[in-house]
This record gives sequence, structure tokens and C-alpha cells, in this order.
Amino acid sequence: MLQEHIDPEEVISEAQKSVFGRSHAHIHATAFAARYSTQDVPKFTLPEDGEQPVVAYRIVHDELEMDGRPIAVRGQVFLTTWMEPECEKLIKECLPKNFADMEEYPSTRVIHERCISILADLWHAPKGKGTCAIGTAVVGSSEGVLLAGLAMKWHWRNRMRAAGKDTSNPNIVFGHNVQVAEEKFARYFDVEPRRVPVSAESRYCMDPDAAVSLIDENTIGVIAILGSTYTGHYEAVEVLSKRLDELHKNTGIDVPIHVDAASGGFIAPFVTPNLRWDFKLPRVVSINASGHKFGLVYPGLGWVIWRNKEVLPSDLIFELHYLGGKDYTFTLNFSRASALMVAQYYNFLRLGRSGYTNIGRSCMDNARLLASALEHTKYFRVVSDTLTRAKSGVCDMAGYVPCLPLVAFYITDEARKDYPHLKEESLAVLLSSRGWLLPAYELPPACQETSILRVVVRERLTRDLVDQLVADAIWALERAREFGAAITPGVPIGRLGPPEPQEYQGGYARPC
Ligand SMILES: Cc1ncc(COP(=O)(O)O)c(C=O)c1O
Repeated sequence: MLQEHIDPEEVISEAQKSVFGRSHAHIHATAFAARYSTQDVPKFTLPEDGEQPVVAYRIVHDELEMDGRPIAVRGQVFLTTWMEPECEKLIKECLPKNFADMEEYPSTRVIHERCISILADLWHAPKGKGTCAIGTAVVGSSEGVLLAGLAMKWHWRNRMRAAGKDTSNPNIVFGHNVQVAEEKFARYFDVEPRRVPVSAESRYCMDPDAAVSLIDENTIGVIAILGSTYTGHYEAVEVLSKRLDELHKNTGIDVPIHVDAASGGFIAPFVTPNLRWDFKLPRVVSINASGHKFGLVYPGLGWVIWRNKEVLPSDLIFELHYLGGKDYTFTLNFSRASALMVAQYYNFLRLGRSGYTNIGRSCMDNARLLASALEHTKYFRVVSDTLTRAKSGVCDMAGYVPCLPLVAFYITDEARKDYPHLKEESLAVLLSSRGWLLPAYELPPACQETSILRVVVRERLTRDLVDQLVADAIWALERAREFGAAITPGVPIGRLGPPEPQEYQGGYARPC
């Protein structure tokens, strides 16, 4: 039985050695300062060389922010919470500019075009005579998913009409693990959702063979997730693409793929550039990503790109004349801010490929450190791929399976033995008292008896904060054992009472 108190420092030191081959106790953990300098800054001896003022300021500032701990609270979400002062200045300058009114802001229009071009290139859209990717900035990945779904629906309908076939029952295939954006598309646009069950064996992702088994001639497309919101796993887009090629060859049913790369779209190209998930696969017709997640822009920005004009039916695009020139629009909203799109361009110029790569790798390193330390305690088991060594195929620079810098974990049976009341939700309640807001939720249907806690490891979550989180997770587990049944999920600490029973249906997103 596991009863002895665990020394967090020992656990962290072991985890650091196993992940990095050495302990980092004497080196400053840099968050945003790493954007300006890559050299190690010692904590307890005088550095050989000085740093730029901006680096010295950021190191000290970031460390001092731990005093009040509010930063830790913000650390557990996907969205960007800090941008450089120069970029904030640009955002302020662009606040009055309406994205819908590009005739009035020709330079902003050009910047938008360049962003689309940069993303199409990053995601390997085919180039050449007569072929050109097309896309738009959107409010977030949700709008990107809705638009991409609409394009697939229209494309399918045009094809069916041309063949003189019935168009009244379209369906779309995706895994039970999708985010609410996919469920919204199916419900709002009247398309039957065909959900592929997920399991531990399928890594909580859609199994490509199971997906193909749900397809018929009314299937408008399959949505694959590059970076599960819940566990960080990447779905096997290349395998899915091969299976769909086989289906096409054997039955004539030709089904496109949309990749919801809300988070992975800004991680995979930098951390695992050899992974084949994007427009390199001819079956991938469209991709969305959130600028405001690993695109590192403040909330309110997403992107959706189609591989060429043929896959975006022209009757979905509106031509506008009344603002003084000719403009084209295919977004759900009309007026909206331009500032964040400009901020994305600033990041592209400021960080470049190497900047995004450094940040992505550092997030992966810290995610691995966190996962390793949590597993070293033996109190927790990680379900994400963060610690999965790649046996074959594509891996990241450190030899691990491609995935998001995200750590989803649960309490081990061993730690729960004799403490049946121990619940992940109880730990979340306790951790919130220390400034950590970690969501606790069940895995998707068929795996829902397992609850997990999730940490999204972003640039802000330094090694120091990882150490703190591990120490707090150990503290929370040991406190929860002491408190016993007094901590009941769903009610404030100290009050007894069972949580509301919840019927679990559909995907993660529950119907009201
Ligand atoms: C896979 C996936 N798709 C879509 C979304 C929705 O993204 P947004 O908040 O940018 O609309 C998310 C958000 O977490 C996500 O993880």
C-alpha cells in the first residue's frame, strides 16, 4: 500500500534526469525570456556573460509572478495569455480596423493574404500552375470547422445532384473524441453525425478502419483531429487517408478528409516536421487551426485553408460590391476585428520557423518532464502520448511519438487502494486552492469509467512551475486521503453530498 509521503524534489530530480539526462536545479527556468536568449542562465553563480535588458527583466519578472500564483491559474488553458509589448502596440493601432472593410484597409488585406500564403506553405498546399490554396482568418477553430464542414457538404451535394441522386441524408464521420465544434457542425447544419467509438487500444482516437466501416455514399467527409483536446493524441491522418484510398478503389466512394488541427496545426510542422498529416496527403481538402492557441496570438483568431478552389464550392462564396470595390467573403460573421490577424503576422515575422520550433520543443520538454515526474510518484498514470517512445515511423527530436504538449493523467489503482473515495475531481478541487485550475473529466463513451486531469503545457509553464505543480499534485493526493469522504466532487470542500447523476451520451460535448 502506498502511504509514505513522497519527496517532490527527489521525484523532480529523477524525472529531470530521465527526460533530459541531467538535473536543472541550478539553472533559471525561462518562460518568455527564452524567445530572446537561448543560453542557460545560472541561479547560484555569476553568469559568465551578461544578458540583454529584456532577458534579465523577463527572467526576474517571470519568477516574481509566482509570488501571487495567479499565473499558474491561467497556465492550464490552450489560449494565449501573453504577447510581446511591440505586438500589443500593433494590436492597439489596429483596433479600429474592420476586417470586413478591406477596401478601406488595403495594407491589412495584403497582410491577410500573406498569412494565408504562409499557412498554406507551412501545411504543404500544392503549388503550381492553376492551383492555389484559398483560405480566411476566422474567429477561432470552431468557425473554421463549421466552414470546412459546409464546404464538404456543398461539394458532396453538387456531386450527388450531378449524378441524379438523393441529397436529403448527408452524414459526417468523426470520433467520439471530437471537440464540441464538430458536434455543432452536425447539429447546426443538419448532417447526421456518425461517431466512431474510441478505446484505450485506439489511444482514445478514431480508429481509421472503424471510421471507414461507417462510410456510405452519403458521407460528406471524415474529420480527423490533430491534437485531441482531451488527451493530446494525434489521429492517424495518413493511415486514414490510405484506408479511404482503398475504399475509393474498391467501391467508388470518394470521401475527403478535413483536419481539425486547432492545436496541432502550430505544433506538428515545427516539432515533428516529417509527420504526414497535412496537404501532402491529397485526400486532405481543408485544415483549420487556432491562431489563439499555439499560434501564440490573443483570443479571437483562427484559420481555415482549403487545398484549392475546386474543393470550396463557389456558390458558398459571396462577392461584395458595396464597399467601393470587389471583395469576396466566406465567413459566418461579417464585421470583426483585424487586429489579431495583424498580430499573427507579427508573430510570423518575429518568431519565424526557428522561433516556433524552439517554443514548441520547449513545451514538449516541459510536458515530458511533468508526465515523467507524475509517473515517478506512482500515484499517477499518464494517458497522453507524452512519454510514448516511437518504436517505428515518425518521431520528434527526442524520439517520442508525435502529440501535443499536453498531459492527461489519472490516479493509479495502487494509490486508490484502500481509498475508494479518491477521485480526480477531488484533486482538482484541492489543486484549485493552490492556484491550479485543472479540468477533470471522464474519457469518452466506452472509456468513461476513467476520469482524467489535464494540463496544457504552454510557453508559460516553466520547469519551476512544473516542479511546483508536481509538488502540489502530491500534496493534493495525500491531503485527499486524509480528508477522506469529506471531499465530494461537485460540492465545495467540507460539504457532504453526492454529485448529480449524469447520463453520458454522445461525445464529450453533452446535449442539453
Ligand atoms: C480539436 C479542437 N477543435 C476545435 C476547437 C475549438 O477551437 P476555438 O476555441 O478556437 O474555436 C478546439 C478547442 O479547444 C479543439 O481543441
